[in-house]
Amino acid sequence: MQRRPLTALPADKVLVAPSILAADFGRLAEEISGVEAAGAELLHIDVMDGHFVPNLSIGPPVVQSIRTVSALPFDVHLMLADPGRYAEAFIAAGADHITIHVESEGDLAAILEQIRSSGCSSGITLRPGTPASALDPYLNLVDMVLVMTVEPGFGGQSFMADQIPKIRHIARALEELDHPVHLEVDGGLDAQTAPLVVEAGANVLVAGSSVFRNPAGISEAVRRLRS
Ligand code: DX5
Ligand code: ZN
Repeated sequence: MQRRPLTALPADKVLVAPSILAADFGRLAEEISGVEAAGAELLHIDVMDGHFVPNLSIGPPVVQSIRTVSALPFDVHLMLADPGRYAEAFIAAGADHITIHVESEGDLAAILEQIRSSGCSSGITLRPGTPASALDPYLNLVDMVLVMTVEPGFGGQSFMADQIPKIRHIARALEELDHPVHLEVDGGLDAQTAPLVVEAGANVLVAGSSVFRNPAGISEAVRRLRS
C-alpha cells in the first residue's frame, strides 16, 4: 500500500487537519472532498473505544471505505485503552499516520516502532492533565506530538487556554531533537484560538466543528484557520 507519512510534509509550515468526527456521516465522501478541495493537508480520524474515553466512534472498516475516496494523508488518533491490539487493523485499513496516547496500556515504544516499520509515521499524545514530561521516553520514536486542548472524547468543546504553556514547552523540547517532529494541537480550534497555538509553536491544526459546521462553508473555514 502506498503510504503518505507525515515525514513527507514540512514541519515548519502550518498544516490543517479537519476532524471527520464533526462531519455529516451520511455524506462523508462529499465532506471529505470538500476539505480536500479547500486545501487541507491531512484528514484527522478520531478513534474511540468507549473505555479510554466515554464515547464510540470510527473503526477500521470506515477507514478502509474512505481510503477509496481520498488521497489525503490519514492522521489516525487512537483514543484506546489497548492501542497495541488495534494498530495493525488501522494500518491495514489505510492509515498513513497513527498517534497513540501516553496514558494507554501496553508497550508503547514497541507499538510506535511497529507503526513506523509499517511505513506510517508515528505520534504520541497526552490528556490535558498529563505533564509534558510523560512524553520524554518517546520523543525519539515519534514524528509528531499531539497536545490535546480539550479532554478527549467529544468534539465541540471549548479550547483550554491553560494548555498553551505546555505547547510552548514541548515546541522547545522538539527543537532540541535531531529529527523534525510535527507539533499538532487538537480541540476547540477555530479562527480565534488557532493563532494562539501557532504562536506557541504548533504547526498542525486539528479542527472539527469549526470546519464542518461552519456557516461560512468548509473552504472559508479552512482559510480562516490558516490566516
Ligand atoms: C476529541 C477529538 C478531536 C475533536 C475535535 O476527542 O480528538 O479531534 O474531534 O473537535 P473540535 O474541533 O470540534 O473541538
Ligand atoms: Zn483527535
